[in-house]
Amino acid sequence: MIQLISPARAVDGIITVPGDKSISHRYGMLAAIAEGTTTIDNYSTGADCQSTLGAMAALGAKIERRDGRIVMEGGALREPSGDLDAGNSGSTIRMLSGILAAQPFTSRIGGDESLSRRPMQRVIGPLTQMGASIEARDEKFPPLTIHGRELHGIDYTLPVASAQVKSCVLLAGIFAKGDTIVREPVRTRDHTEIALQEFGADIEVERRVITLHEGAKLTGRELSVPGDLSSAAFFLVAALLMPEANLVIHGVGLNPTRSALLDFLMSMGASIKILDLTQTGGEVVGDLRVRASKISGGVIEGALAAALIDEIPALAVLGAASSGGLTVRDAGELRIKETDRIATIEANFRRMGLQIETSPDGFHIPGGQKFHAAEIDSAGDHRIAMAFAVAALAADGESTIQGADAADVSFPEFFSTLREIAG
Ligand code: S3P
Repeated sequence: MIQLISPARAVDGIITVPGDKSISHRYGMLAAIAEGTTTIDNYSTGADCQSTLGAMAALGAKIERRDGRIVMEGGALREPSGDLDAGNSGSTIRMLSGILAAQPFTSRIGGDESLSRRPMQRVIGPLTQMGASIEARDEKFPPLTIHGRELHGIDYTLPVASAQVKSCVLLAGIFAKGDTIVREPVRTRDHTEIALQEFGADIEVERRVITLHEGAKLTGRELSVPGDLSSAAFFLVAALLMPEANLVIHGVGLNPTRSALLDFLMSMGASIKILDLTQTGGEVVGDLRVRASKISGGVIEGALAAALIDEIPALAVLGAASSGGLTVRDAGELRIKETDRIATIEANFRRMGLQIETSPDGFHIPGGQKFHAAEIDSAGDHRIAMAFAVAALAADGESTIQGADAADVSFPEFFSTLREIAG
């Protein structure tokens, strides 16, 4: 699908974004293995999170949609009758592998072309240490054939900063004999730890060491998913690119392991106010008000690179318009996302006549650049489609986004919301 984007001078309005993708995956998986009924309000409408629900249904969970909520009946999983399909979703395959590794059956899980190129050793390694037996294409790529076994807890230090791997090990730990300990090199999003606690597991977190005690008994809950800050990021950047902007994004998840985005934008001069802070299911939620601002430059490196990894495509666009530019280092993980995002950002920068110098683990973007109308290509990556749709608002004419439907992976309502705020 091709979307046409006309330039805009202003964005304003009050909008919502879909339920957080990371939290929705976790609630969907935990609800399927918890005893009893879980209701989930504001579950992500994105295709990735539907892949998780599809897989959990194939594993025997009863799932209904009632009054806009997901109602799930969980318990023991059963052997699926066919392959499990994770679609485009790295979170689904990596986190669900932890659960599958502990089941008394064999399952096979794969996904689309992009997912089939994404590395899986990072979960195969620790799960094998826990006692699982997993076969992968070329020993590292999907599909994975997972022979469930009785697992034992391990004390595992993550070799990469990855919340998906941490979560995979913790989800396997639910079924393991003995305690499961995960040590993180840098803090990553902690939605799994919070959700496990909500569902009744005995879990302790001390700095960057997480201990899940043996014998977790999970029971169904009533939950509500906060709006996705990583989806809100595109609209924050849209507002900050415009000469006039006054936008409120309602009900956004502001978990401290995700909200580095706001601190970073504010450090660049963004006028963002957090209104109405509340809590739901152990997660912090608030409304964000963003106004047009003068944006200076910034550097993303070290732990900040891990904390902002999903927002870097949007921040790259803002960096080009900023006065001082943007430098990104220590973000080699970008190369193994839904696309090689360093390459797909570079390709679209070139199309828009923007300068960028790339390196194996990042890039440098000079500031003060003018955006030219272009034929953008999402390369099938949701965050590239949305980041460059926002860039196109600041261009000097009409742009097109090829493969715009990629946005459906996390934000099917993205283009209609963009039209609403940018006229
Ligand atoms: C996610 C963790 C991050 C992030 C992804 C979602 C999660 O990936 O990029 O979009 O929900 O745990 P890694 O854990 O691979 O860094």
